[in-house]
Amino acid sequence: MHSKDIVACVVGARPNFVKMGPILRGIEACAPNVQTRLIHTGQHYDDAMSDSFFRQLGLPQPDVHLSVGSGRQGEQTAKILDSYERWLLDCEQTPAATLVVGDVNSTVGCALASTKLQIPVIHVEAGLRSFDRTMPEEINRVVTDAISELLLVSEPSGRENLLKEGKSDESIRLCGNVMIDVLRSQLDAATALDPLRKMGLTKNQYAVWTMHRPSNVDDPEQLRRFVDAMTQISQLLPVVFPVHPRTRNQLETLGLWQTLEATSTILATDPLSYHELLGLTSKAKVIITDSGGLQEEATALEIPCLTLRENTERPITVDEGTSVLVGHDVGLLVKLVDDVIENKFKQGKCPQLWDGSAGRRVGAEVATFMASRKNPS
Ligand code: UD1
Repeated sequence: MHSKDIVACVVGARPNFVKMGPILRGIEACAPNVQTRLIHTGQHYDDAMSDSFFRQLGLPQPDVHLSVGSGRQGEQTAKILDSYERWLLDCEQTPAATLVVGDVNSTVGCALASTKLQIPVIHVEAGLRSFDRTMPEEINRVVTDAISELLLVSEPSGRENLLKEGKSDESIRLCGNVMIDVLRSQLDAATALDPLRKMGLTKNQYAVWTMHRPSNVDDPEQLRRFVDAMTQISQLLPVVFPVHPRTRNQLETLGLWQTLEATSTILATDPLSYHELLGLTSKAKVIITDSGGLQEEATALEIPCLTLRENTERPITVDEGTSVLVGHDVGLLVKLVDDVIENKFKQGKCPQLWDGSAGRRVGAEVATFMASRKNPS
């Protein structure tokens, strides 16, 4: 007879790796009757996209590796669903719950497999909505929340959205932002690495630019416009551009990669490790990005963030934080970079509960949830 409940904690893609450390530690500290199993779906598999995060963030080696790899949206999600279901059916002790984070294909695939086997799902970072169903991540969010029993939200908009979708108030808990736990705990290590020196950059005198969303990089004309804007902005401020594999493939196909490499004021690099990127963003003048994680990190660091999205599922980064939505408007982008340089850009403040303790709150909620399933009132 096993005394502890198993909670299977799923990671698959880069943003999940960043968030899982504080969650595992929070459960260990606050849920003594729970034992975790770390499941890696293998959605991201390169050293740069996966393993370096495990090393730097001190994540334990996964207990299970599903090795699904890349694929079309449906194909990749189906592979994840199938292989996680197989594992749930074959494993020695069936988990009492599955915990998923964020909005990637691994999140929805494992949530579906789990709930169909009547294993309840806990969703960390629930309730975020861009209301843009052309984004695969939005479909993943809506579906995952619809089938999750415990919904742990990072900002108040998450609760409001879930209530509107008919979720009960008791199933929703505001825990804050686990990614900011990591940022706060790793800032010293990132600074000590001193990536600025290695790259010949000066504090507050460069921009960091990342983009990988299909809506920005899959359309050749749009990508060309962004590359032109990057070239123009790099005349004002050198641009560091860590390139996601999806973006790199597309830039190479369109013959734009050579243009970037030939521009001395643009530093196009392979994807960076967590510490390298945080070392750079924390000292940047401005961050230009379509990443949900970087929007939040910019707000926590109080660095101006120009968000290459028409909408955001993280409205607090705009309403309270340092982000402005620029969409595809490259004219506005260049103007706002000017505003930042002239110190005319808005100030932001760090949202409530983005305080470095979100992982502990998640752990406490997991403990309460598991206890309530054993002793239903
Ligand atoms: C995924 C997430 C997105 C998240 C992003 C972070 C979904 C729907 N999207 O997008 O929300 O912001 O991760 O990075 O889950 N590839 C590699 N090496 C890897 C992983 C991927 O070369 O380790 C290549 C794949 O071959 C593919 C491309 O990158 O061509 C896209 O990978 P994929 O996992 O499909 O989605 P992302 O665009 O990374």
